Amino acid sequence: MNKGVIFCPWFFVYKLIEKNIIRGDITMALVSVDELLSRAQERTYAVGAFNANNMEIIQAIAKAAELENSPVIMQASQGAISYAGLDYITGMVEIAAESVKVPIALHLDHGTDFDQVVRCIRSGFSSVMYDGSKLPLEENIAMTNKVLDIARPIGVSVEAELGKIGGTEDNVHVDEKEAMYTDPEEARYFVEKTGIKSLAIAIGTAHGQYKGEPKLDYGRLEKIKSMINIPIVLHGSSGVPDEAVQKAVKLGICKVNIDTNIREAFVGEMRRVIAEKPAEIDPRKILGPAREVTVELIRQKMRVFGSSGQA
Ligand code: G3H
Ligand code: 13P
Ligand code: ZN
Repeated sequence: MNKGVIFCPWFFVYKLIEKNIIRGDITMALVSVDELLSRAQERTYAVGAFNANNMEIIQAIAKAAELENSPVIMQASQGAISYAGLDYITGMVEIAAESVKVPIALHLDHGTDFDQVVRCIRSGFSSVMYDGSKLPLEENIAMTNKVLDIARPIGVSVEAELGKIGGTEDNVHVDEKEAMYTDPEEARYFVEKTGIKSLAIAIGTAHGQYKGEPKLDYGRLEKIKSMINIPIVLHGSSGVPDEAVQKAVKLGICKVNIDTNIREAFVGEMRRVIAEKPAEIDPRKILGPAREVTVELIRQKMRVFGSSGQA
């Protein structure tokens, strides 16, 4: 048997195309999240990961990245994929990436289903999150490794999650929150057992709109960073004050996820236009201004994260 053939990556890639795990016509326009985050870690800034729910938001993210000369991650949740359709999401993001010079990654946000992860990779995503945070630790490790086994050989990056990043609607008490936070020793063990290159952690943020000001556990972040030394991901970042995000970036956060702030800006502007011109029936006259305010919001975030000028 010829070992050279067995270990040739092209042979492996061919096998994955044959098994229909990846497409043979994949475009090179999208970059992996690992690539963006290792540079961000080296230079101490964070790359914004913005949720892409429709065409106007995708266009706004690309335009903001171009204007700021910033790398950017467009991410689609399972909900966004069932709303827009997987091929539409991939197609629109590929077109956006081809139309600008800055590096763009397409990432699955909170993938909880292995088959969905495979469908995204096959569709052309350059990165996936496998979110096994609701599973017992060993199951989370096993499932994350299963995803890594198919993604790593073809250069698709994988983000994992440890700890529970709740929703602001979850109504948990302070002591319960502590129990949801990522344990530094578990994080070290998780990285040792998976070799994961980026990890989402729970340090006090939550998805959705905050009622009060979120308090981040910087000490925990520092401890985790000292034990794993890989790019760390902050979820639920809308509504976290700019200075708090910047402090977290200094302590090791390299990817900052933003969805709710985009929803607020986009829908807020739609509401404003409709209130100002109640007789308007052309959707372009309502969605166009919403797209423009989203560009400004994202540009502002990129400056806060320090990714402006880093493309
Ligand atoms: O992390 C959650 C994101 O905000 C996605 O939300 O599932 O409603 O698309 P969604
Ligand atoms: P926010 O909606 O709170 O910004 O959270 C986004 C997020 O974490 C997506 O994974
Ligand atoms: Zn999230």
